[in-house]
Amino acid sequence: MSGKYFITTYGCQMNVHDSERIAGILSGMGYEACDSIEQADIAVFNTCCIRENAENHAYGNIGMLKKLKQANRNLIICVGGCMMQQIGKADILHKKFPYVDIIFGTHNLDNLQSLIEKKLAQKKAVIEILECDGSVKEDEAMLRSSYPNAWINITFGCNNFCSYCIVPYVRGRERSRQSSFVIDEAREMVAEGYKEITLLGQNVNSYNNGTDDIKFPELLRRIAAIDGKFRLRFMTSHPKDFSEDLVRAIADNEKICNCVHLPVQSGSDRILKEMNRKYTSGDYLRKVEMLKKYIPSCAITTDIIVGFPGETDEDFEDTMRLVRTVGYDSAFTFVYSRREGTVADRMPDQVPEEVSKERIMRLIDLVNSQTREKSATYIGKTVEILCEDYDDRKGMYLGRDEYGRMAYFASDQNEIGNFLDVKIEDANGISLKGEIVNKR
Ligand code: 5AD
Ligand code: SF4
Repeated sequence: MSGKYFITTYGCQMNVHDSERIAGILSGMGYEACDSIEQADIAVFNTCCIRENAENHAYGNIGMLKKLKQANRNLIICVGGCMMQQIGKADILHKKFPYVDIIFGTHNLDNLQSLIEKKLAQKKAVIEILECDGSVKEDEAMLRSSYPNAWINITFGCNNFCSYCIVPYVRGRERSRQSSFVIDEAREMVAEGYKEITLLGQNVNSYNNGTDDIKFPELLRRIAAIDGKFRLRFMTSHPKDFSEDLVRAIADNEKICNCVHLPVQSGSDRILKEMNRKYTSGDYLRKVEMLKKYIPSCAITTDIIVGFPGETDEDFEDTMRLVRTVGYDSAFTFVYSRREGTVADRMPDQVPEEVSKERIMRLIDLVNSQTREKSATYIGKTVEILCEDYDDRKGMYLGRDEYGRMAYFASDQNEIGNFLDVKIEDANGISLKGEIVNKR
């Protein structure tokens, strides 16, 4: 088979990595990537359902494809991902957009080749959504698109059932990949020249719970022991399982970045209980203290939801207080989004949108001021940056330090994938600007 494909991805890093798997399947079939959907013979939408706005965004983009399909009858439009995995969503999409050719879920992404072959042999749409069978695929063909970063899945699914979250329903029960396969994949990535490895899972700290295989801190240690210069990161850590052993593994290994994403979600104990997070704000702050005791410079980032059902002004003030206490390097802030089928969706006292909006603006102001303060401390310092990309608009290269802080700098040669010492001259909110003083 030959032709061109274009993949549009919504949502989190997990989905970005799933798209690398989709690209691996399509290129294995003989298709080549192209730069715009207009040139494509196969257009894939990898959807996300974690919040309503990601869903609306996908609907909007799929809706705009009607004209393209009319102009090119041979175009194959595929819609997959976790939005399709929600009960009834595939039928709604099929009725709304009858010109979509293939609809698939998160658990049959690997069948994409056979779904495409089926579609090529029949006129009507192919719809296949499978339930999670609990299996874990190893050794999958990927077409990685994020050099110098290599994403590696270590767990799939989630068992935590936070009351607001749809993930456990669409991604299934938590299961881990075997450590030997993960370590081999990491070794292969380093040998291929990748300079940063990020281990991915909804809750990496529960890696291999319930099996005899090694646990997460040991997995980190073994990957950090691979020869070569590279950085090792991971996400996401659930605070309830964030252990001292893990912090020691980070502290003892140069290659493991001193940067931890530790979603708190709320600073109110009452709301945390309603969210089913299984920790109090005190438990969380004690883990942060433990982390800072071992690694005083460690960057801490978080996720926060405002406007969870029943959140009062006092609950929100508790969140503001906790944010001030921790002093985050950066934070993702979300307005609570009702997800059908979750426990929180059935709770009374849904918070009015205007109230949530007002709260999130105040929270964003606070988080931004903390981020700006941290950025300002960089001025005059020289930091090691891994160059990740080139920004056409700015005409500058960009990369991050081990703490995840983004820096821009100029160079007249391709620096992507290089470690560089950059002297910071300017700090503009979240990003820094500097000059290369040394190349490694
Ligand atoms: N509404 C708002 N934010 C949500 N998240 C997950 N579910 C919801 C929801 N229903 C956020 C959480 C999580 C991040 C990935 O997305 O903060 O940590
Ligand atoms: Fe969702 Fe909670 Fe699982 Fe994270 S830990 S994916 S928020 S259920």
